[in-house]
Amino acid sequence: MTDDGYLLNNAQAEAGARFQALAELFDPWTQRHVLATGLQAGWHCWEIGAGGPGIPAWLAERVGSRGRVVATDIDTGWLSDADGCEVLRHDVAADEPPGTFDLIHARLVLTHVPERDAALSGMIRALRPGGWLVLEDADPALQPLLCPEESGPAEVLGNRLRRGFRSLLAARGADLGFGRTLPRRLRDAGLLDVVADAYFPMTGPACAVLERATVLQVRDRLLAANLATEDEIEQHLENVATRPMDLATAPLITAWGRRAGVDASASSISAIPREASSAADIAAARKRLS
Ligand SMILES: C[S@@+](CC[C@H](N)C(=O)[O-])C[C@H]1O[C@@H](n2cnc3c(N)ncnc32)[C@H](O)[C@@H]1O
Repeated sequence: MTDDGYLLNNAQAEAGARFQALAELFDPWTQRHVLATGLQAGWHCWEIGAGGPGIPAWLAERVGSRGRVVATDIDTGWLSDADGCEVLRHDVAADEPPGTFDLIHARLVLTHVPERDAALSGMIRALRPGGWLVLEDADPALQPLLCPEESGPAEVLGNRLRRGFRSLLAARGADLGFGRTLPRRLRDAGLLDVVADAYFPMTGPACAVLERATVLQVRDRLLAANLATEDEIEQHLENVATRPMDLATAPLITAWGRRAGVDASASSISAIPREASSAADIAAARKRLS
């Protein structure tokens, strides 16, 4: 991985723990939004920057043998065809889309891709008529703190290291206020029925696992940039492991819209209430709204 590449290299051992923590924190949220597009057996789906197997495997189960799930990443080391998807090494900033799709989803990817406009254009081109694009990205500038309540020295140190992490991300070309731009970008790209909402966990075991794995992954970079000392990093890791700290993530902004082309009944997604969480809930919500 070069110095201007993706900061959180998937080849590091801690990447697996990060993907598991991200799945625990965000998969239920992602699945609720993806189900609300009307995801069906037989759909062709593209999971971009998949990272770990959680979402591609779940999609593959949903679309069944008549469907297709292509899971792409610049580093596919944590993905496997055994999960029912086609795994492809693919740079969303540079490579042509691997087909056309009824659903395209990317979570926590575009923030890290400096060529995000080109990447988004590729996604739009790859949507079939009526196809859905669901984009999810962090917006650390909206909520920059690891510890929203600075109740003691452990929290102050945690927030300082989080500031250091953000400056490493920014130096790699990450856009720390990108999440909030998603609905406008989807509208500007001509998508219909664009809606967005946001979510972030405030405390819980997966937040601590995510923080530990992230700090271990960027430890050398924090030291090299004089953003923290060895002692501070050790102290922070110990605090996270042993103290009841309320650790938050940046907000995850989820925006979705569909390409024109079919008179999709799924377009009523924009009016589906927040509590809809399963295909049955969504079908019931559609009936109520029709
Ligand atoms: C923060 S992780 C998110 C992983 C997964 N989407 C999730 O939410 O759990 C970002 C992922 O994007 C991938 N990635 C970064 N730059 C990429 C690019 N240009 N093209 C494709 N994938 C990329 C990384 O390798 C990594 O797996």
